[in-house]
Amino acid sequence: MMTRPRDQVSAKERMVYIEEHISEPHPSMKKLQELTKTHESGDMLSFYDGTVLLSNMIKFAGAKKCIDVGVFTGYSSLAWALSVPEDGKVVACDTSTEFTDIGKPFWKEAGVEHKIDLRIAPAAETLQAMIDGGESGTYDFMFIDADKESYDTYYEQGLQLLRQGGIIAIDNCFRMGRCMIESDTSPGVQTMRQLNAKIKKDPRVTAVMVNVADGTFVCLKN
Ligand SMILES: C[S@@+](CC[C@H](N)C(=O)[O-])C[C@H]1O[C@@H](n2cnc3c(N)ncnc32)[C@H](O)[C@@H]1O
Repeated sequence: MMTRPRDQVSAKERMVYIEEHISEPHPSMKKLQELTKTHESGDMLSFYDGTVLLSNMIKFAGAKKCIDVGVFTGYSSLAWALSVPEDGKVVACDTSTEFTDIGKPFWKEAGVEHKIDLRIAPAAETLQAMIDGGESGTYDFMFIDADKESYDTYYEQGLQLLRQGGIIAIDNCFRMGRCMIESDTSPGVQTMRQLNAKIKKDPRVTAVMVNVADGTFVCLKN
């Protein structure tokens, strides 16, 4: 084998190597993943590496109460439901029953249907209703992966709903690298760039950007 300096290994080669070595998904996760990839909006599916990392964090923390903002075909909700204990729950927020109906049979097949509380409404309304209902400070984990323009709102609502030491994981914080290109001023990219900058200075969290998926900003509530 030819030896090459470390910096000559491409990002693609790294990704292939990671994919070759990552643990196999739960059978229902795998089936849902394969089905979702055939959907016309299949590129919205969460990346597997980020999902495994966050699932491991949920398990390690013994998290019981999770919020999934942006369900799509139910892949991330299924991952969190498989990671919380039997008396745990996942509040799953989306606006589309057309998408979420695809995932429901897989939640049932995996035996975690009872842990997923699906709320069909704009996520900001669902989260506000939870705050107004006295649930502030009671959640362990939140995953944000929905409409980019509302990420700041979800982040602020999440900080209210999370307990101290809870985690908000924000997907797509790189926007496929577009956040690093200053001339890219499209609304979704600008919103993400502004939120990334805000989090860096936010004394309410200790945050780290992780180079999995499309960049995941892992923010621990101080
Ligand atoms: C990138 S997909 C989520 C992917 C999902 N986390 C997964 O594991 O595959 C984004 C989802 O956000 C939903 N969405 C868009 N706007 C929303 C809103 N205002 N409130 C709740 N969900 C919304 C869309 O219907 C879509 O299902």
